[in-house]
Amino acid sequence: MKARFLTYGLLLGGLLLLSAQAQTGQTPAKQAENQPGHGDKSTHGVAAEVKLSDYGGSEALRSDEDREEIAGILQAQLTETVHLGMIAKQLHWTVTGPHFYGLHEQLDDVADFSREYSDMLAERMAALEVAPNGSPEKIVDNCPVEPVPTGFLDDDRVVQMISSKLKGYSERLNERIERLNDLDLTSQDILLGLHHKVDKYYWQFGVQLENRRELAQQRDQKDRK
Ligand SMILES: [Fe+2]
Repeated sequence: MKARFLTYGLLLGGLLLLSAQAQTGQTPAKQAENQPGHGDKSTHGVAAEVKLSDYGGSEALRSDEDREEIAGILQAQLTETVHLGMIAKQLHWTVTGPHFYGLHEQLDDVADFSREYSDMLAERMAALEVAPNGSPEKIVDNCPVEPVPTGFLDDDRVVQMISSKLKGYSERLNERIERLNDLDLTSQDILLGLHHKVDKYYWQFGVQLENRRELAQQRDQKDRK
């Protein structure tokens, strides 16, 4: 008995659907799509224009002055990060000596990390509607870091050079992290990620410096005996 009622119910439902479609010439799904308010926010079925300034995130709440200041900090960090990547690649190619292979690999890691973070910094600037500038002219004219010598270099000298570059980079990065404290935590988060990586590389190169100093002292003591 129950099964018979169910069959009648299904048949009746199907007939009602067919009748609605015959009246409008559209399927029920199509009719729902054409209802005002479906899909886009327009009541005329025309997709509303997407504007960044309409975005409801924290960016929309910032003043133009704040965005300019945040972007200035990000641009300075971008310039230094692109430059650091170039230095690391140059030393990756020119390092020589018994520790060539390890340093060659480590320097490539620094170049890769610089490229990855340059992209994050630049895209954060673009999200704040300020155009990033990674042109060679901008990097050369604005980076506060001295270039490294060209030509082949001893491994010891390379370790000292890259350690000193990372130290300066980390100090300026710290200042920018502080400045972003009250300005933009999202941008600060990118710089904190950078800090974590730079500290790691500084430690890895620094350990080699320490080891080499110890080895040199042991050699000196041996020679004196
Ligand atoms: Fe390579």
